[in-house]
Amino acid sequence: MERRNMLGLVVVTTLMFCSLSDSSRLFNNPERRNLIANGLAATPAMGWNSWNHFYCGHNETTIRETADALVSTGLSKLGYIYVNIDDCWGEIARDDDGNLVAHKTKYPSGIKALADYVHGKGLKLGIYSDAGYFTCSQTQPGSLGHEEQDAKTFASWHVDYLKYDNCDNGGIKPTVRYPIMARALMKAGRPIYFSLCEWGDMQPALWGNQVGNSWRTTDDITDNWITMLARADVNEKYADYARPGGWNDPDMLEVGNGGMKKSEYIVHFSLWAISKAPLIIGCDVRHMTEDTKEILSNAEVIAVDQDPLGIQGKKVRAEGSLEVWAGPLSGYRVAVVLVNRGRRRRAITALWEDIGLHPSMAVEARDLWEHKTLEGHFVGELTATVDMHSCKMYVLKPIG
Ligand code: GAL
Repeated sequence: MERRNMLGLVVVTTLMFCSLSDSSRLFNNPERRNLIANGLAATPAMGWNSWNHFYCGHNETTIRETADALVSTGLSKLGYIYVNIDDCWGEIARDDDGNLVAHKTKYPSGIKALADYVHGKGLKLGIYSDAGYFTCSQTQPGSLGHEEQDAKTFASWHVDYLKYDNCDNGGIKPTVRYPIMARALMKAGRPIYFSLCEWGDMQPALWGNQVGNSWRTTDDITDNWITMLARADVNEKYADYARPGGWNDPDMLEVGNGGMKKSEYIVHFSLWAISKAPLIIGCDVRHMTEDTKEILSNAEVIAVDQDPLGIQGKKVRAEGSLEVWAGPLSGYRVAVVLVNRGRRRRAITALWEDIGLHPSMAVEARDLWEHKTLEGHFVGELTATVDMHSCKMYVLKPIG
C-alpha cells in the first residue's frame, strides 16, 4: 500500500514537473509571451453555443433564430452576446485553394452573411475549429497545418470568437499546437476571442493565459448533477490562474437542457458565476421554460461572474456533502455560495475566517436568489438552512 502511494507520488511529481517545465519554457521564451494580447475577455465571455443542445443538428436558421431569441428574451442585454457555432458547420473537405468551406445545405448563405446578421443585432459570432487534422465529429477538417489560412478566413468572415478543439492531433503537444493558432489570430487583423478546448489534458491553466482568453480545465460536461459538480471541482483547483484576459473554463452551461432539477441548475449557475467561468448558454433559447429564463437572467448572479476584480472564488470549506465557496469582489465585498450536495436539508455556516473577512467585520448580506437583503448585520459568521441538492448565494458587504 505504502509503495503504491510512493509510486503515485513519483508519477504525479513527474507529471507536474513535465507540465511545469513545458509551461515555464512558454513563459521564458520572449517570442511566446502574451501571444494573445488582444484586449478581450476583461471579464469572462457570455453567450450561447450550439453543442450541448443541438450537437451536429444545427443550421443557419437555428443560428439566426437563436440570435433573435437572445435579443427578444432580454438575454443579450444581460451580457450574453456571443452566438457560437460549434462542430459540424463545414464541408468535409477544403476547396481547391485549401480554404475551409461552410456546409452547402446547412449554411447555404455562408458564415459571413450569418456574421452580418448577428452583428446587425448587436451580437458577435463565434466559430469552431480543431487543433488537429479533423474535428471531433469527424465531419470537417481541423486547422492543424492551416492555422494562418484559417485564421484569415475567420477574420474575413468577421468572426469574433474561435473555440479550438483537441481531436485528431497527431500526438503533438498542445503547448506546441495552440500557440500557433494564437499567433495566427493575432496576425489576422481582427480581435478574435480565443477559447482553448484542450479538455484539461496538459493542465492548460499553467500555460493558457499566454495563449488564449479561456481554457477548458475539464473533459466534457453532461447534463447531470454528478458530472456538473465534478467539473466545478476540477476547475476549482486552478483558481489561482484565472485573471482578467484569461479564464478557467469548466465547460458550457447545461441549464435548461432538462437533465437536472431547478435547484440543481441553480447550483450549477451559482458555481459557474463564483468561479468566474465563461457563461455560455447551452440550451435552446428559442423555447426556454420560465424557470430556465429566470436562472439565466439572474442579473445579481451574473454580476458576480462579471465583477471587474476578476478573482476566481474557491471552495474554502467542505464537511461531507456541505460546502462553502467564496471569493472576493470589488468594493471589499465577498461572494459566498453555501452548497448542500447531500440528500437532507442541513444548516451550513460560512465563517469569516474561511471567507477572508476580519472576524470582527460587520456585513450586510444580500441573498442573490431571493433578491433580498437580509435583516440586520452579521459578524463572524452567516448560517443558512439549505435544501438537498441546493445552494444559497450571498454577497456580503462590509458596513461603514
Ligand atoms: C468536444 C468538445 C465539445 C464539443 C465537441 C464537438 O471535444 O469538448 O465541447 O465541441 O467536441 O465535437
